[in-house]
Amino acid sequence: MKQGIELKVNHGIHHLEIEAHRTLLEVLREELGLMGTKEGCGKGDCGACTVLLDGEPVYSCITLAIEAQGKEICTIEGLAEGDQLDPIQQAFVDHWALQCGFCTPGMIMSAKSLLEKNPAPTQTEIKRAISGVLCRCTGYVKIVEAIEAVQGKNK
Ligand code: FES
Ligand code: FES
Repeated sequence: MKQGIELKVNHGIHHLEIEAHRTLLEVLREELGLMGTKEGCGKGDCGACTVLLDGEPVYSCITLAIEAQGKEICTIEGLAEGDQLDPIQQAFVDHWALQCGFCTPGMIMSAKSLLEKNPAPTQTEIKRAISGVLCRCTGYVKIVEAIEAVQGKNK
């Protein structure tokens, strides 16, 4: 049985009719067409699906869409302003911090949450902040370098 919900995603309001068991990841990708958020494991292990709920990173694959009602949902699509990339996105490009890119939205959203709270994190704090997202390509060094490079420049 479907029920009506209202989701606030990237500052836009969406009214949807969905089954109560549907995850936030499914709704973002399949109902709203926001394909930037990736599905890796689908069970809370890899972090590829990380989005922000009221500024906090969550695994959208194990979060029900109905749980996200009344909260600000931010996805990777919500960061750039027109052609202007968010400083974290630009730093990932500048520092070669991605290869296949599958982990990148989760990494960037985790970094976004960290830098909003702590604009000048230590390397240890950066590593802790991205520890919930697995990368099978880069070895993490370039990712940490990119996030370090944003310090003081994050919006
Ligand atoms: S897809 Fe959500 S944690 Fe892996
Ligand atoms: S760049 Fe491929 S998983 Fe991280």
